[in-house]
Amino acid sequence: MDYNELMERAKQASENSYSPYSHFPVGACVLAESGKVYVGTNVENASYGATICAERSAIVNAIVNGERKITAVAIYGPKMKRCAPCGPCRQVIDEFRSEKGVDIILEGDNGELEIHTIDELLPLSFNL
Ligand code: THU
Repeated sequence: MDYNELMERAKQASENSYSPYSHFPVGACVLAESGKVYVGTNVENASYGATICAERSAIVNAIVNGERKITAVAIYGPKMKRCAPCGPCRQVIDEFRSEKGVDIILEGDNGELEIHTIDELLPLSFNL
């Protein structure tokens, strides 16, 4: 699965966002070490703090399906270019990092893919 396809799946997932409070849909697509992909979207709640982000929803989907290592995550928010993961999502991405780290795929200003790494977005991370 190439990163363009990963982003395409993240875009599709954002269409299923449940975001009646923020009106800010987000989709994510995780590539696991197995080669399989798992999508997620943000799911909000009337009790705002119970909201789950798209990235964490995709990772939970991967874990439920038996995965333990992820190699890439594509993230897409139709209302924001370069929709980067929030702090807690960075920590959760890092929890399941593969041996060679995790690529974070975002869409740049002109629709081109931007590839970052979790090490770049979460330096000096805490891990047991
Ligand atoms: N959101 C995500 O899904 N991922 C992020 O990394 C940042 C924020 C969602 C949470 C909430 O539903 C909406 O975007 C506005 O914060």
